[in-house]
Amino acid sequence: MKDSRDKLELVDIYKTYRVGPVTTQVLCGINLEVAAGDLVSIMGASGSGKTTLMNTIGLLDHPTSGAYIFQGQNTAKLKDKQLSTLRGRHVGFVFQSFHLLPLLTALENVALPLVYQGESRSQMKRRALEELEKVSMSDRVNHRPDQLSGGQKQRVAIARALVVQPSLLLADEPTGALDPDTANDVIVLLKKMNAEQGVTILIITHDPAVARQCKRQLQIDNGQLIENHVKAAIDRESFVPDVGADYFAQVTTG
Ligand SMILES: Nc1ncnc2c1ncn2[C@@H]1O[C@H](COP(=O)(O)OP(=O)(O)OP(=O)(O)O)[C@@H](O)[C@H]1O
Ligand SMILES: [Mg+2]
Repeated sequence: MKDSRDKLELVDIYKTYRVGPVTTQVLCGINLEVAAGDLVSIMGASGSGKTTLMNTIGLLDHPTSGAYIFQGQNTAKLKDKQLSTLRGRHVGFVFQSFHLLPLLTALENVALPLVYQGESRSQMKRRALEELEKVSMSDRVNHRPDQLSGGQKQRVAIARALVVQPSLLLADEPTGALDPDTANDVIVLLKKMNAEQGVTILIITHDPAVARQCKRQLQIDNGQLIENHVKAAIDRESFVPDVGADYFAQVTTG
């Protein structure tokens, strides 16, 4: 269900890492508003800060400065326990390398997040089966991850992310380990979840074909975010040939 509280907002976010004498300024004044139900891609060079941004949005890491408003709350004011409760209730994660537990079946992997919500065993099983059905994995519920293909593992991981019915799904290169056809299937599935369940989705990707399928496309560059339609306009401007006034006079007078 969409709710205006599901909008998220980052205001002038900075993130600096310090390791010994080395200081890395990764995010340098990020401003971003994402409406409930949006589908957003984030591209950028390796090391540009995509995962750092995702960890901030997913409440896994604190920004060095700036305000992050999530579920109507300024997250800087929340304690770690409150942040992890918010995260557990509202955020689902999907990763390039799936992060499924190898000794658990698909069903058990998907049911796992519900353990922390204190649901009964039968209720957990029912919910996990429902989610596995939505990702067309009903015929593999008792398979372990090593008995599944890459695309199937990612389907299970998506079902696990959605089993708690989060308002926000964060996917860090969800198609990075998949061949192009399987990657496309995964994106089609994420788009379906976005359209049918209204879950807000942010996808980090290196693949322009994936980014193009999103409603909104962002690029991270030099620690700042830029919308792709803005970037295209800047690129166009910088490509205006320096032909001088004579050329424009000719063009305008025919
Ligand atoms: N925990 C950390 N401690 C110190 N530096 C870090 C830490 N995490 C990331 N960095 C640095 O921050 C920068 C951005 O890293 P990040 O993982 O966000 O990049 P990315 O855009 O996700 O790259 P990739 O496309 O390769 O996944 C890198 O220079 C990295 O070395
Ligand atoms: Mg990364």
